[in-house]
Amino acid sequence: MVNVVLGAFYGDEGKGKVIDYLSKDCDYAVRFSGGNNAGHTIEVDGKKFAFHLIPSGILNKNVKAILGNGVVIDPKVLIDEINNLKENGYEVDNLYISDKAHLILPYHIELDRMLEDFRKENKIGTTNRGIGPAYCDKYERSGIRMEDFISNRFKDCLKVNLENKNIILKAYGYEEFDFETIYKEYSKYAEILKPYVCDTTTMLHKAIKNNEKILCEGAQATLLDIDFGSYPFVTSSSPTIGGVSTGTGIGSKYIDEVYGVIKAYSSRVGAGPYVTELTDEVGNQIRELGHEYGTTTKRPRRCGWLDIVALNYAIMLNGMTAIAMNHLDTIGHLDKIKLCVAYEYHGKREEYFNTNVDFLNHCKPIYEEFEGNFGDISHCKSYEDLPVNAKKYIERIEELTNTKIKFIGTGAGRTSIIVR
Ligand code: GDP
Ligand code: IMO
Ligand code: MG
Repeated sequence: MVNVVLGAFYGDEGKGKVIDYLSKDCDYAVRFSGGNNAGHTIEVDGKKFAFHLIPSGILNKNVKAILGNGVVIDPKVLIDEINNLKENGYEVDNLYISDKAHLILPYHIELDRMLEDFRKENKIGTTNRGIGPAYCDKYERSGIRMEDFISNRFKDCLKVNLENKNIILKAYGYEEFDFETIYKEYSKYAEILKPYVCDTTTMLHKAIKNNEKILCEGAQATLLDIDFGSYPFVTSSSPTIGGVSTGTGIGSKYIDEVYGVIKAYSSRVGAGPYVTELTDEVGNQIRELGHEYGTTTKRPRRCGWLDIVALNYAIMLNGMTAIAMNHLDTIGHLDKIKLCVAYEYHGKREEYFNTNVDFLNHCKPIYEEFEGNFGDISHCKSYEDLPVNAKKYIERIEELTNTKIKFIGTGAGRTSIIVR
């Protein structure tokens, strides 16, 4: 069985928490796209773990955690994460890294910065983790894979790449990199990571044959997809359903459930259109109540109401079979809650999402209003325990999306989740 968890909006929907919960019954947790631009938080007994690369399922000891071929890996960040887990008493011998995953090297990070600088007032607001430049190299066919990294090919690959990158960096007046310094440092990282590298695609297909359970962990989210997001304000990978197949080697016929994760409101980090954004006091209130500051970059997140037009697009595009909705506790602190049920575009009602930036910038949200003030819901362990106003909100979302909200987040803690 292969289940998938995907972000439905602009990221940070609380995928980490949902994945941690679902991994309890799984044999494999697999990251298939993105890199350490992701930040997935899990709170265990008051302690926060923020995963940038390692699949969030790793906290469950029965789970084999896989970094699939679609992921781009900064070796330094990965080693830090492994060490952090070890320091916290977790064995990391259940981690497997695809031999086909590509590397992020220091020059990718510098190029990310350089490209953002050159965009001036049109910045994307990237996480500056080298993601775009690393995927550029992959598709340009000069990227360095894990299988190269751990072999004696690394030296030559790095030499050729660095020569090329230094020409660009120098021409634009940016810092050049010294080959020997990087080679020496990264050869050490290669030795550390070598034992984890293997053919994860074959491993996953053996698991499918053995009827084992696989959970694929989406990073980023639908509206940040390179094809289906609000281009160019997107990331450089495919965080949507197609990315599961290209980023793991698991064909679509094996995929069962596709869970879309949302918050009871919405957020976005970085630039780009955002129809339901609140730039007023309510937006600030949501940011503070929900602690909406980036897990990776600590940037304040833009906050707004939940957008059904965008959600229906994500459900349609990914074939989402159910929804996981986090932060019901957060939204319940407000007196009134708004839900965007359609857009107004040049005086006409529009119910279909279109990623065209100009279209989105000219759409005005049409809202339905709900009563808030749910009170404390931390004690609610089943759907029936929830206050009536919370149920009204949830059931209206289900009606508008024709999709069941199967998981409901009632707090940041690992166990603060209602399953229906
Ligand atoms: P991800 O990138 O989708 O995994 O989400 P992040 O970890 O970046 O951001 C989600 C934030 O919301 C984290 O700080 C979580 O601890 C927190 N969180 C997740 N679910 C809930 C919830 O139901 N209620 C509250 N209050 N916080 C939550
Ligand atoms: P998780 O997995 C929120 C955003 C960046 C920027 C754009 C491109 O935690 O949900 P990049 O560095 O990828 O080139 O930046 O994408 N972005 C995210 N926003 N959550 C994420 O991951 C993100 N990963 C990238 O802020 O707008
Ligand atoms: Mg995040």
